[in-house]
Amino acid sequence: MQLEMYCDPQTKETLELIEGNLVNPRSGRVYPIRDGIPLLLGETELSGDNLKYQQFYDKIAPFYNLSNKLYFYFKFGGERQYREQFLHELEIQDKSKVMEISVGTGDNLPYLPQGIDFFGLDISFGMLKACVRNLKKWKRDAHIVQANAEAVPFVDNSFDVVYHVGGINFFNDKDQAIREMIRIAKPGSKIMIVDETEKLASGTYERTPFVRRYYQKRTITLNAPVDHVPAEMQDISVKEICDGLLYCLTFRKP
Ligand SMILES: C[S@@+](CC[C@H](N)C(=O)[O-])C[C@H]1O[C@@H](n2cnc3c(N)ncnc32)[C@H](O)[C@@H]1O
Repeated sequence: MQLEMYCDPQTKETLELIEGNLVNPRSGRVYPIRDGIPLLLGETELSGDNLKYQQFYDKIAPFYNLSNKLYFYFKFGGERQYREQFLHELEIQDKSKVMEISVGTGDNLPYLPQGIDFFGLDISFGMLKACVRNLKKWKRDAHIVQANAEAVPFVDNSFDVVYHVGGINFFNDKDQAIREMIRIAKPGSKIMIVDETEKLASGTYERTPFVRRYYQKRTITLNAPVDHVPAEMQDISVKEICDGLLYCLTFRKP
């Protein structure tokens, strides 16, 4: 664990490792580490869609990999064909510190180069437990934490690459999540945000058993959150990928 990179998700104060827990020495707040995963969610922050989707992903975590594999195979001819449509945007070099916000079960990692220092956070402990199993299977190392994308427990300017795939459409506070991605990225680094478009939601998810109740009657339109990117960011670009089923928003921190 690279303790100097971690911080209290709310106050951003440094943490210490005491008797197997992460502790904020100023407030005395204790963040346990369970099954090797630091639990860095604040107590008060889970409400609204963040809570709803944490519960949803905890429930579907055991079936997530298999159902995704089938879906990617029939829709794109395989998972690699799907993921490479956005992962090629990342500017990864040897030993880059890479952060995936909402890492889920870690399924982007097999398509990233060896030799990177990979970090992932997610709100769902169920997804992270599956991620840890996958990491063992793939023989890959990663630093995995349970946290909310809107309260990231890492210090400013820590990562060469920061990206997110597949959750932001339903975050409670997209502005805050994007501010956090920018805060932890090193100056000059490119940030990427990918999620589904209306086409995928209305064409597939609204008709898929179990998933459909999370999409029907939704009050928001699913668009790239380009209006939430601060004006001072550089090279802001949005495109549709995967036959218009996903958007890919990229920009650079000055
Ligand atoms: C569709 S999965 C994508 C997983 C992975 N990024 C991938 O590409 O396979 C969406 C993930 O977003 C996570 N998530 C949802 N809301 C979140 C939040 N507020 N903070 C962090 N993660 C969140 C879910 O738990 C889930 O693992």
